[in-house]
Amino acid sequence: MNISPKGGKKVKGVEITILCENLVGRMVGSGEHGFSAFIETDRGNYLFDTGNGHAIMSNSLLLDKDLRSIKKIFLSHGHKDHTGGLPEVLKLRGQVDVHAHLHIFLDRIGIHKQENKKEIRQFAGTIYKRRYLEFLGANFILNTDFCEVEKGIFLTGEVPRRTVFEKPDPGLFSEIEGKLTQDFIQDDQSLVLDTEKGLILILGCAHSGMINIINHVINKTGKEKFYAILGGTHLDFLTPDQLEESIKSLKKMKIEKIGVSHCTGIKAAARLHQEFGGRFLYGCVGSMLEV
Ligand SMILES: [Fe+2]
Ligand SMILES: [Fe+2]
Repeated sequence: MNISPKGGKKVKGVEITILCENLVGRMVGSGEHGFSAFIETDRGNYLFDTGNGHAIMSNSLLLDKDLRSIKKIFLSHGHKDHTGGLPEVLKLRGQVDVHAHLHIFLDRIGIHKQENKKEIRQFAGTIYKRRYLEFLGANFILNTDFCEVEKGIFLTGEVPRRTVFEKPDPGLFSEIEGKLTQDFIQDDQSLVLDTEKGLILILGCAHSGMINIINHVINKTGKEKFYAILGGTHLDFLTPDQLEESIKSLKKMKIEKIGVSHCTGIKAAARLHQEFGGRFLYGCVGSMLEV
């Protein structure tokens, strides 16, 4: 079903600044393993994800983005590199709506092998408890479905996993009552802005698969022209075959700019640059997209 308001008002005055990311671009700010984007629009300012907590405060000051001005916070999923900065933001902002899926509070573990085959186990979930975050001012609004969070701004909700080539990261687990099970990150959701130049899609880690997410957005909005796709693609953690299949699909789509970040990784980013040339951009700390 087409959920986008027909002829509804487009979001204008859009300026998206990467606040937290693995790499630093404009010789300003600090890199960290995480993602956060500050979104300015004619509707107000918003924050998509909060990084892992080390850099959001200093980067927002250095990049002159006032976290006190944000109207709403959107969380892509419950991994600590996206939710870790929430207390810092709440301490500054106070009471604010935080849109997310209920699973952001799941206990999660990442198990990855190093090059020397040594296994590394890490807690990967949201570090802070819901009650603490509420005490700091978070008013959680939980969603599972595609929804309009502001005129012309949408959250994808859960994304159906349809492509055969987009596989879940085998190193991610959730821990329920002491039992580890593979984690499909059902809560993974992305943000969509409907602008005059086309849709802007902002991904957190794209655990649902970048192509699944794009197809879901096309299905739900009835629109297939993307002005930009930004954010983490998780391609670094998956197989070279999946990357090539994803590129094949992306090339068939109407996408003007591909601006990847975070868990895309250097190799996958270089490969995307090779394919998309001038339409490719790397979204590092301080990168900006204006519409
Ligand atoms: Fe991530
Ligand atoms: Fe993640």
